Amino acid sequence: MAARVAKARLCPKPLIRRALSAFRYNGRPFCRRRTAARVSMSTEREALLRQSIGGYIEPYIGLSLEELGAVRSVRVTEKGVDVSLELPIPASHYGAELAAALKARLSGVAGDSDIRVDVAWNVAAREVRSGLKPIQGIRNIIAVASGKGGVGKSTTAANLALALAREGAAVGLLDADIYGPSQPTMMGLKNERPASPDQRTMIPPVAYGVKVMSIGFLIDEEQPMVWRGPMVTQALVQLLETTRWGDLDYLIVDMPPGTGDTQLTLSQRVPVSGAVIVSTPQDIALLDARKGLRMFQKVEVPVLGIVENMSTHVCSKCGHEEHVFGAGGGRRMAEQYGVPLLAELPLDIRIREQTDSGKPTVVAEPDSQLGRAYLELARRAAGALARAIIAGPAAFPTIRIEDT
Ligand SMILES: Nc1ncnc2c1ncn2[C@@H]1O[C@H](COP(=O)(O)OP(=O)(O)OP(=O)(O)O)[C@@H](O)[C@H]1O
Ligand SMILES: [Mg+2]
Repeated sequence: MAARVAKARLCPKPLIRRALSAFRYNGRPFCRRRTAARVSMSTEREALLRQSIGGYIEPYIGLSLEELGAVRSVRVTEKGVDVSLELPIPASHYGAELAAALKARLSGVAGDSDIRVDVAWNVAAREVRSGLKPIQGIRNIIAVASGKGGVGKSTTAANLALALAREGAAVGLLDADIYGPSQPTMMGLKNERPASPDQRTMIPPVAYGVKVMSIGFLIDEEQPMVWRGPMVTQALVQLLETTRWGDLDYLIVDMPPGTGDTQLTLSQRVPVSGAVIVSTPQDIALLDARKGLRMFQKVEVPVLGIVENMSTHVCSKCGHEEHVFGAGGGRRMAEQYGVPLLAELPLDIRIREQTDSGKPTVVAEPDSQLGRAYLELARRAAGALARAIIAGPAAFPTIRIEDT
């Protein structure tokens, strides 16, 4: 409307107007009214575009771009529309997908103008509980835990770390399973050892862009560990604190199995920002996973979501998919506790072969259906953490757990 009024006041004769517009007075177009009209038109379009962009619900975080404060600028120029965003989750690949979704959304408002969407990102740090001091340079620690052993916790932790790195984040992976460290093998670092030039701190070996630290680098694998609880905690805290992680957006911690004292002390001693619970669909595993949830609740760590691993079995010969361990358990549990279901991963021989041979699925076949499932899991976990950071400690939904 404002644009139409301004247009009516333009220089009356188009020919004169065109001639005058070529002149410059003090570097500005001679015909000021015309400029004023243009400015008012583009401001109005910018406002409309900004409104439309701001109303877009970012699917992984579950908040609108406006609520996220993600819209840095919207500019209408003669060349088209320039949108600049800043997300709180890593988006090296996701950025292009988000840009495409926004372009489709804006096409009605922007007409046939060219739309360019620039997506930058910056991961914030979650404030840790009082009494715990954050580790310098590490913005967020994500614990990957399960109640039961052998459910695929280490496999999930490795692929989660790699998927976050694939999205451009600076990632570390700490193997906290003192009794059965598996990350050196899974990350293809079996023969590596951390360097320690100053004899006090350790430089972590790097696999596929992820910094990895594990007790497995320091001990003889054949030697059974006979440490008691307090020694384990002590060793882990030391491993965490003496590693030169540098600047990390996320440190993924592959927790030891179980929900006993060691895990509890660890969660109390390590400034964890959020936890991912892995479970297989059997009732017994889900029961143990519930205990894992309860443990994190005790230490006020938000549960970012549940991963149902070995959800279905995919036959390597015919591709037939079957719910060998029952269906929908992870989903039901996620609904019951009001936390996201981050992924339902099939029992697939490729996951086992790739992970156990030192090249996890995310690097072995990043664009396959399985690779995409891990990428999606990483985006959802990062999104849930970003949401927890925005909501602040008190506002994050408390997880209530009934006695099992
Ligand atoms: N979705 C899957 N499909 C096929 N094999 C899998 C899958 N997830 C994990 N595995 C395989 O199952 C075995 C156990 O997985 P993993 O070591 O990750 O479990 P875990 O929970 O860390 O066990 P632990 O309690 O011993 O630490 C590994 O050989 C792994 O490759
Ligand atoms: Mg493990």
